[in-house]
Amino acid sequence: MAEQKATNVHWHEGDITRDHRAKLLGQKGATLWFTGLSGSGKSTVAVALEGALYEAGRLSYRLDGDNVRLGINKNLGFTAEDRTENIRRIGEIAKLFVDTGVIVLSSFVSPYRDDRDTVRALHEAAGMDFIEVFVDVPLDVAEQRDPKGLYKKARAGEIKNFTGIDDPYEKPDKPEIHINSAEMSLEEEVDTLMAALRERGILPE
Ligand code: ADX
Repeated sequence: MAEQKATNVHWHEGDITRDHRAKLLGQKGATLWFTGLSGSGKSTVAVALEGALYEAGRLSYRLDGDNVRLGINKNLGFTAEDRTENIRRIGEIAKLFVDTGVIVLSSFVSPYRDDRDTVRALHEAAGMDFIEVFVDVPLDVAEQRDPKGLYKKARAGEIKNFTGIDDPYEKPDKPEIHINSAEMSLEEEVDTLMAALRERGILPE
């Protein structure tokens, strides 16, 4: 848990609540948290799901590791401390979006179970849905795909602390959704996720 540095600060409640915003938008926010190795297909499925949600008239927003690291988290690298801070900030940003009524599609390697569980706890404490989606792929498949050529560099020792090579990935114990991305088509993955959103009342039946 990050330390609360500022003292004498208090939450300021407004007049318009999450429920008001949900009525205005005609939808309820939630976070789908995609976790998995680099090259597992997290961003690919998030992009496809964003399209399906758009077609269904639902507002979603993607938070993506590479994108966020070019902006708000540009001062963070890949040490364990920096990854923890990366995920903590994204968790808080996701909560803001959910409070607004948006369906957040968050794709980060997020290799540490504790960090993901902290984000889950933050959501649950605020009465928000947190759906962990494990995008599961064997390391050798991710390495074969190597869309950004990073595994090759990591094997050559040109990138240190690369997840799956010389840095750990802790699999989720009980993800709400388990996607075997080496075996499922993108369409099947999107169908599974849309069905899960309907089951949880985030999308209408
Ligand atoms: S996380 O571990 O902090 O959750 P995040 O998802 O933001 O990682 O960023 C991972 C992306 O950064 C990967 O998809 C890859 O493109 C790139 N990357 C660069 N260096 C590393 C590294 N050492 N480990 C993992 N990914 C890296």
